[in-house]
Amino acid sequence: MNLVDAVGKVLHEHRIFSGLSEQHEELIAACASLVTFPAGTYVYREDRPAENFYLIRQGRVALEVFIPGRAPIIVDTLRDGDPLGWSWLIPPYMTHFDARALELTASSASTPRVSDARWKRIHRAPDSGCTSGWCRSWVSHWPLRGRQDDRYLRPARHARCGMALALAQDLMQPRPFLVERVTQDLSDTFTMVLRPQYGTEAFPFAPGQFNMLYLFGVGEVPISISGDPEHPERLVHTIRALGSVTGAMQRLKKGAVVGVRGPFGTSWPVEQAVGADVVIIAGGVGLAPLRPAIHAILAKRGQYGRFVVLYGARTPKDILFRQQLQRWGGRLDTFVDVTVDRAPGNWHGNVGVVTGLIGHGGFEPEHTIAFVCGPEVMIRYAVQALAERGMPLDRVWVSMERNMKCAVGFCGHCQWGGNFVCRDGPVFRFDRIADAFQVREL
Ligand SMILES: Cc1cc2nc3c(=O)[nH]c(=O)nc-3n(C[C@H](O)[C@H](O)[C@H](O)COP(=O)(O)OP(=O)(O)OC[C@H]3O[C@@H](n4cnc5c(N)ncnc54)[C@H](O)[C@@H]3O)c2cc1C
Ligand code: FES
Repeated sequence: MNLVDAVGKVLHEHRIFSGLSEQHEELIAACASLVTFPAGTYVYREDRPAENFYLIRQGRVALEVFIPGRAPIIVDTLRDGDPLGWSWLIPPYMTHFDARALELTASSASTPRVSDARWKRIHRAPDSGCTSGWCRSWVSHWPLRGRQDDRYLRPARHARCGMALALAQDLMQPRPFLVERVTQDLSDTFTMVLRPQYGTEAFPFAPGQFNMLYLFGVGEVPISISGDPEHPERLVHTIRALGSVTGAMQRLKKGAVVGVRGPFGTSWPVEQAVGADVVIIAGGVGLAPLRPAIHAILAKRGQYGRFVVLYGARTPKDILFRQQLQRWGGRLDTFVDVTVDRAPGNWHGNVGVVTGLIGHGGFEPEHTIAFVCGPEVMIRYAVQALAERGMPLDRVWVSMERNMKCAVGFCGHCQWGGNFVCRDGPVFRFDRIADAFQVREL
């Protein structure tokens, strides 16, 4: 068997090529070779032209993120049969990770890409069954049908690899949702309920996750989901109108179309909190990203210990979800306390910052998990107050905001210390980000 035949056999037997015509297999085999990488060597480095696509026949390859001054972070390990180097297929054809052989690794590599005339013929072949380019359809469909597990579909896991790029082409595309209702909660804050439309489907989300909401012709903003995770068919966002996009959204009427990408990011650890006391500390519109967690905990109330919700607003007029707060506070199994920074004479409640409420509700700091969301300065003081009461920082979770563009870990706009808020957050365990939190204006 000559080399081309040997490569052809390897390719033919690989599931990734199932369904390809003989002609295409031959073309690819003619472009490919057999290569090996000793343990510890790099198959390719990050941010370089993606010159090869590999099928790992034997061995293990780590996909790593290089962080100056630290050990590389392994984001995935690929093994026998896995494809490697999706960036080779997708513009701008740049690698997004370091790929390092963990043990002697043998693979087949397809080398020429656009420059090779034969390869171009594959794109144009009439029986490829694809009008937009064979590679594209291959990349976008194979992972969905070829893998039984969903790990290839999680952008966070593959945040910067070529695979994620392929998925991100989908993730970057807003899906149309119809505005069902816009209700004005406060003078500058409104809640928008969206329903899937034009063949789009509702999607499940976890408490604390966010969507990118796109107003056609205006712009796109990250907004947390504020609805009930048990009812994902009603996609709810509570938004403070601050600037051009959120201001224009406030003026939307029933029937308007909004583009939605998501859900993105990490979530409040409601499952992990089972058995513990839970204290929720929210400031201003920061109650919105926490509301799905409150829904989730109340839905399984018996599984938790004490449940305490502490909320602070600027004035009584700025109290968000007022009726819901009253309803939750009316339950015998839930403690709710509200404070305002300043109040007119007819306010009979607490006056002062929300951190002044910490200790109300009688939770045991060492058996409690705290979820904190609000302006950064409020988070800072809330965490400090919890720590002073003896709460370990690995039991405190906070939600952070940074400017975002892609929301899938590509563009770096949301970088915060060693983290991307869109990918590693927005919900962080505090002890993991305590260092970045010490640096003001980061
Ligand atoms: C993960 C995540 C979740 C978010 N969830 C929500 C949410 O549930 N509800 C909500 O109302 N907002 C939320 N935000 C903030 C929201 O994305 C911004 O308010 C929005 O992008 C502003 O866009 P704009 O074009 O309307 O205003 P811009 O024109 O971008 O800004 C107008 C003015 O507001 C200021 N500004 C912008 N963002 C903020 C901010 N976050 N805090 C204070 N001032 C700001 C700007 O500096 C500028 O002065 C979230 C942000 C992130 C990153
Ligand atoms: S928004 Fe692009 S990396 Fe986070």
